[in-house]
Amino acid sequence: MERSVVGSDPTGQPPGIGVLISGRGSNLQALIEAIAAGRLRARIAVVIANRPDAQGLERARRAGIEAIAIPHRDFPSRAAFEDALLRELRARDVRLVCLAGFMRLVGETFLAAFPNAILNIHPSLLPAFPGVDAQKQAWEHGTKVAGATVHFVTGELDRGPIVLQRAVAVKDEDTPETLAARILDIEHEIYPEAVELVLAGGWTIDGRRFTRTPPDGRR
Ligand code: GRF
Repeated sequence: MERSVVGSDPTGQPPGIGVLISGRGSNLQALIEAIAAGRLRARIAVVIANRPDAQGLERARRAGIEAIAIPHRDFPSRAAFEDALLRELRARDVRLVCLAGFMRLVGETFLAAFPNAILNIHPSLLPAFPGVDAQKQAWEHGTKVAGATVHFVTGELDRGPIVLQRAVAVKDEDTPETLAARILDIEHEIYPEAVELVLAGGWTIDGRRFTRTPPDGRR
């Protein structure tokens, strides 16, 4: 059984998180707003994009958050790219990494550096519809319920222990676009909630099961 490792900061500072993005950054925005509203006790130490034109970089800068681009194409290998990411994250004492629309697979170098401390948001009720275009996959499959998942990142794509999920009903009149928009609204609710939960500690991962430990340690 594995226990929470992110824990609380001895200095009393809100724990630093690093947010990795590739594009629009609406989930990043949700994290920024949750922190401003006091719903998420964290500090975004840095936002890193693997694409210099990622719209989320601008959102971060507008909020006064340091935002940098590290284009993966500048590096000869995934490991070299991840080393560069890790240098920036470590330099800012990042405790938890949040992938928010980050379109790169996470490799061994990164996973080993942040054990049980990398989260991702995915727009389906995993394990259904991993991979790209998850909302369209659900729509095409004809599911009556769709949703979003926040999970820990492991070596297997979209397969890590699940922290939080929320469902939305699929309506007869939905298109892939209207469904994706409703899923995005719940992504914006559950990502800050999941990050708060993980940072608060008091949880365990047993096999694939993420569970919160009662305060007295009993089950
Ligand atoms: C979201 O749908 C997220 O679930 C998926 O990529 C999309 C990113 O959107 N992993 P944004 O950049 O946060 O707006």
